Amino acid sequence: MKNAMTKLGLSLAVALTSIAPAALANSGGGMPPANTRPDNIAQVQRGAKLFFNYCVGCHSLQFVRYSRLADDLGLSEDQVMQNLNFTGAKFGDTVVSSMPAADAAVWFGKAPPDLSLEGRSKGPDWVYNYLKSFYVDHSRPLGWNNVVFPGASMPNVLWEMQGSQHATFEPKQKKQEKCSGTPAEGCNNGVREVEVCAEGKTEIDGKCLVHLEVAAAGTQNAQQFDETVRDLTAFLQYAAEPAALQRQKLGAWVVLYLAFFTFLAWLLKKEYWKDVH
Ligand code: HEC
Repeated sequence: MKNAMTKLGLSLAVALTSIAPAALANSGGGMPPANTRPDNIAQVQRGAKLFFNYCVGCHSLQFVRYSRLADDLGLSEDQVMQNLNFTGAKFGDTVVSSMPAADAAVWFGKAPPDLSLEGRSKGPDWVYNYLKSFYVDHSRPLGWNNVVFPGASMPNVLWEMQGSQHATFEPKQKKQEKCSGTPAEGCNNGVREVEVCAEGKTEIDGKCLVHLEVAAAGTQNAQQFDETVRDLTAFLQYAAEPAALQRQKLGAWVVLYLAFFTFLAWLLKKEYWKDVH
């Protein structure tokens, strides 16, 4: 019995310590982490406001209803309809961009995708870094390119806040590489000359990115803009998994329930063992 109790206590401790990090962990991938808190309602609310001001003109969220937003984000119907709904949709409608997909495809070369599941399919780190990585590139149709998604057909809609970033490139470097094959295949005496970017540098259009730099300042400094993008990312994470908010609330009750029953079991054990010596 004593043994079993220790085991129960131990597994409860393990459950308690593993819940929090698992719920907050973001996917990796070598990029700076988004460090979002999708369980932080204030952050998700700020992100929602940004989304409806800067993104819904092009992107829909076909699995999210305005009414659900009100419930999950603790907002009234009026608050949602006045601050988040600019397309004339009804309270029970899903979030549909006012831009016709066919026109968008002509204007941007590609219809802006629905972002309902983006927070899960690409993951928060990708979204966060993508939104921070636009730079001026006059060779692109809309004048913008992106380091995380080279050739993206989306313009930098947040440039007024971020300022416009310029990219510095360096040419690729020649490097000898071991190979096996014939000279006709480019392999001479077991070595081949290749052109690569230095370790850790991203290749874009045959050049290597050295760094991005804000050339003309925006209305926010770097730290404020990081927060803006973090809020937006948290909102997209929430949109991709609205149940996560409830699940985390439920999780606290489950832990309390377990703790309570451990206590009961302990009382019971004391009662049973009272007379055994
Ligand atoms: C002017 C129209 C427009 C606006 C406004 C806009 N986007 Fe986009 N977005 C696009 C287009 C077009 C693409 C498709 C890019 C491609 O595939 O080349 C895209 C792609 C994306 C992607 C990548 C999707 C994927 O996985 O391929 C994300 C994430 C995204 N947008 C987020 C946002 C966010 C967040 C906002 C608001 C801050 C926003 N967009 C505002 C047009 C827009």
